[in-house]
Amino acid sequence: MRKLWAGRTSGATDKTADDFQSSISFDARMYRQDLTGSMAHAAMLAATGIISADEAKTITLGLEGILADLENGALTPDPAAEDIHMFVEEVLTERIGTVGKKLHTARSRNDQVTLDLKLYLRDTLGGIREQLRALLGTLSDLGEEYAATIMPGYTHLQRAQPVTFGHHLMAYAMMFLRDDSRLSDCLARMDESPIGCCALAGTTFPTDRQLEAQILSFSRVTKNSLDGVSDRDYCLEALSCLSLIMMHLSRLSEELVLWSSWEFGFVTLSDAYTTGSSIMPQKKNSDMAELIRGKCGRVYGDLMALLTTMKGLPLAYNKDMQEDKESIFDALDTVVNCLSVMTPMLATMTVHEATMHRAAETGFINATDLADYLTACGMPFRDAYRAVGELVRTCIAEGKTLTDLPLEKYREVSPLFEEDLYDAITLEACVDRRTSEGGTSPASVLSQVAYVREKIGQTTGNEK
Ligand code: ARG
Repeated sequence: MRKLWAGRTSGATDKTADDFQSSISFDARMYRQDLTGSMAHAAMLAATGIISADEAKTITLGLEGILADLENGALTPDPAAEDIHMFVEEVLTERIGTVGKKLHTARSRNDQVTLDLKLYLRDTLGGIREQLRALLGTLSDLGEEYAATIMPGYTHLQRAQPVTFGHHLMAYAMMFLRDDSRLSDCLARMDESPIGCCALAGTTFPTDRQLEAQILSFSRVTKNSLDGVSDRDYCLEALSCLSLIMMHLSRLSEELVLWSSWEFGFVTLSDAYTTGSSIMPQKKNSDMAELIRGKCGRVYGDLMALLTTMKGLPLAYNKDMQEDKESIFDALDTVVNCLSVMTPMLATMTVHEATMHRAAETGFINATDLADYLTACGMPFRDAYRAVGELVRTCIAEGKTLTDLPLEKYREVSPLFEEDLYDAITLEACVDRRTSEGGTSPASVLSQVAYVREKIGQTTGNEK
């Protein structure tokens, strides 16, 4: 078949070369966006008198028919077509005749492809934002439920100070909240219609780009046609946002893997989200969490791939840019899949509060509070720090915890110690007293939960 773009050329392209340059195997997924864009284009061409109202009507009906047939499976994208844009135009012209050839007036595939991709991202990122909200809802529910559940807080993966499990989970909620706001920023910046930039220089036809943008629900149009067709910043920005989401999911996954190990025993993941071993009957592996952690790498890879593709391209469109879609689609699919596993995996895990508490009882994680006690009695903090260090050394030598150590031993180090020191260093006291804004006290955790729920437009917890 003669190519739609066979203007100057007369010889056929090599079959291998044809397959090599075809993008329909992956860009067919943008068919809805392509048809939506074409319908808007036909409407604009008619509104400006570039084509007649009758012609626009015939084109629109044809496009609607193609959309319906693609949706119900009566029509499938032809793998021999070059891309989804060519495929739609070819089918349209086959179905409605010569008038179909008028649709491509005052546009080019260069502005068409970037329009489709923006529309596709807008739809899919909107879905990811919904998924993030669901995850934030689950984290808030868990944050509320475990607002007073004590666990060791770590730095350097060494027991550091007691925190609550609710506080730990709400830390992730803050990350995902930022991810959501980053997506919102990214969507706001990409909210510019590129259609009408045409091949690179604009057009001689009296088009109305504002009208076409309006039909497609864009707030603005791109201001420079060379930039409009060659810009992929919005893809890179989206990939950066997706990379950060994956990094957060990966860190959380790592914690789930650790927490569900025998060594920690803080949580048990539901059987629905674990696997067994083909040889070791006792095994329950946290494969889903591990896979989420593993898939983070491919999304970073998608970002690096497109950054590298773009770095040396002269203006305006270059075929290299066809590589944008596989990176984008892979990253979007990965994030969608990971979020759809993470949220129910968290919602269904069993939390072992007693084990968490036991872990917090050893490791001298109340030592800071003991130093604070001395400081409150008037000793400068640095001296208090040293005194408590000495007490910890004594405890280690005698196989005791700070709670078991008798008052005489305390007094040998400082006469400021009184019997009430023991109340000051219970894990509950350590946690309850950290009421500073954003701190780990149950009251503070509950206000973090309220903050997140307000941000996601949810006033109370989900019904269980
Ligand atoms: N399939 C192409 C892409 O994804 C569409 C744009 C082609 N434009 C061109 N001038 N060859 O980038």
